[in-house]
Amino acid sequence: HHDAVTHARQHPPQVVAHRGASEDAPEHTLAAYRKAIEDGADALECDVRLTADGHLVCVHDRRVNRTSNGRGAVSTLELSDLAALDFGSWKTRDSFGVRTEEPDWEHRPEDREATSVLTLERLLELVLDAGRRVELAIETKHPTRWAGQVEERLLLLLKRFGLDAPAEAGESPVRVMSFSARSLHRVRAASPTLPTVYLTQFVSPRLRDGRLPAGVRIAGPSLRIARSHPAYIERLKEAGHQVHVWTVDDPRDVDLCVGLGVDAIITNRPRAVLERLGR
Ligand code: G3P
Ligand code: CA
Repeated sequence: HHDAVTHARQHPPQVVAHRGASEDAPEHTLAAYRKAIEDGADALECDVRLTADGHLVCVHDRRVNRTSNGRGAVSTLELSDLAALDFGSWKTRDSFGVRTEEPDWEHRPEDREATSVLTLERLLELVLDAGRRVELAIETKHPTRWAGQVEERLLLLLKRFGLDAPAEAGESPVRVMSFSARSLHRVRAASPTLPTVYLTQFVSPRLRDGRLPAGVRIAGPSLRIARSHPAYIERLKEAGHQVHVWTVDDPRDVDLCVGLGVDAIITNRPRAVLERLGR
């Protein structure tokens, strides 16, 4: 562990809060993202989906059933439908739906916005108002009935914030991630300097040589890949790619990532990972 800490001091990986500080607070809510910023995360991760009326909202699953008190697919609901739902209280109930006595996150019911559906627009405002540099890794979810339109809306929204066309990729506080090479291709075609991350869950034979889809500079392998194919991670690094690994919650896996020279650690527990890195 000591060596890992020394290495981390020299090449500190970025700590990315996966769905916000989602171990402590309900994922993809302002409550979770505010907590991640307070915890000192360098960046935030979010999944985006398009509502029936064309708004980008931060929701992981195709349906809202798991993370709200409503039902149905995001793509068939309007923003006003989603705004009527509570995206927080599932976190304070156990698996039988019984209210746990002490929720392990601070919930102020009067602060409705904190656990309402979160639009990407509101999350961008939060990031830009953080008072320090906080980056945002936006994941497009596929397949979707809104293929193509997700990327179009995303770029329009980023443009409104002046974030769609960074002078250099390294300067951009925003990056777009996806398991869909097509989705990333659409983003790059419209905005060549916006950084993109190609997410992978398994090492496919096609990927083994460390090549990514054309123009993509950042690899986003799963922790499973990092554990079982460390040589593949090394190959990616040798090919000049950045490597962002998800989802890393165990301190031993933080050490593994540091040892492999991983550039960003995506975690549900940003505070714990920062501590492990000696920050
Ligand atoms: O950061 C990438 C990771 O979030 C991909 O998996 O299912 O958690 O979106 P998932
Ligand atoms: Ca994600």
